[in-house]
Amino acid sequence: MSAAVQPDGVVSGAVERGGDVSGAVERGGDVSGAVERGGVPGVVGVIGGGRMGSGIAQVFAALGARVVVVEPEERAARERVASGLRRAAEKGSLDGDPAAVLERVAFAASPAELPATAELVVEAVPEQAGLKAEVLAAAEEAVAGDAVLATNTSSLSIDELAAVLRRPERFLGLHFFNPVPASLLVEVVVGAATSGWARDRARGWVRALGKSEVVVADSPGFATSRLGVLLGLEAIRMLEEGVADAASIDRAMELGYRHPMGPLRSTDLVGLDVRLAIAEYLHGRLGERFAPPRLLREKVERGELGRKTGRGFYDWD
Ligand SMILES: NC(=O)c1ccc[n+]([C@@H]2O[C@H](COP(=O)([O-])OP(=O)(O)OC[C@H]3O[C@@H](n4cnc5c(N)ncnc54)[C@H](O)[C@@H]3O)[C@@H](O)[C@H]2O)c1
Repeated sequence: MSAAVQPDGVVSGAVERGGDVSGAVERGGDVSGAVERGGVPGVVGVIGGGRMGSGIAQVFAALGARVVVVEPEERAARERVASGLRRAAEKGSLDGDPAAVLERVAFAASPAELPATAELVVEAVPEQAGLKAEVLAAAEEAVAGDAVLATNTSSLSIDELAAVLRRPERFLGLHFFNPVPASLLVEVVVGAATSGWARDRARGWVRALGKSEVVVADSPGFATSRLGVLLGLEAIRMLEEGVADAASIDRAMELGYRHPMGPLRSTDLVGLDVRLAIAEYLHGRLGERFAPPRLLREKVERGELGRKTGRGFYDWD
């Protein structure tokens, strides 16, 4: 299975370069035509050097940015960035020597140590609103007034996070997908206060990374999680009802609708626990259509979390 799958079941490859943003967002002004593909920022801060943060640091550093990663577990984060760069070099997708690129990545213990020269700070700490608000507020104090602040949250409200900032107009969501280097899509999530200036700078940087953006208004699940999770939940309900077996449901979408991967297999790759958490959040915000199916809860309780535990809707070696 070669397609890259996102936590919310999005399979990258489906989006046109420079994806259509027409009419998507009223907020933040006109979104048509203003975005040039420029360079990446000279200095980038990344808060959290886990799976996503290390990938974000890698892709910016690979294109010449100096990156400061704020991460309490520095050794593990450095190794994640280093191994990502080695993999990219092996695949022939890195311009330059991985060790030389790694020299552009520095590590820090707290957001207060972010350089004042950072043009962009991307927060990628665990999905907890309080923690994200705390590190974003600290980052805002450290960087200059015209830096763009972004969160990589997969589900939390941009407007709620923006409430802790003094200048919410320079804050937005930059929803990268996993694995960051291989994925083609970034959702640019525009809050009520986000300025057109911040949005367009962010769109330009996404394009400089060789990825495509879709601009979406801040709303639960944005575009990707909302649609991807709903499809996955309905597939699980169909399995529960005995409509067809897992492989048949997946094949129906793969062959009938040309999805690169069926919704149950993609749930296995994402993790059933991750899917359940997103479904519960969306259920609370968007209503009954996101109610997690009994079968999903039972599997999570039994520890059948998908590929990472060897069993989900399929058995994995
Ligand atoms: N994993 C995915 O597939 C995926 C995809 C898209 C978006 N996201 C979102 O990205 C964010 C990060 O997810 P992840 O999968 O990389 O998580 P992760 O657990 O792999 O990484 C989080 C990192 O943050 C660090 N951290 C914790 N507290 C910190 C603090 N106070 N300051 C700095 N660093 C701190 C942790 O040590 C860890 O290395 C979440 O909001 C998640 O929802 C994840």
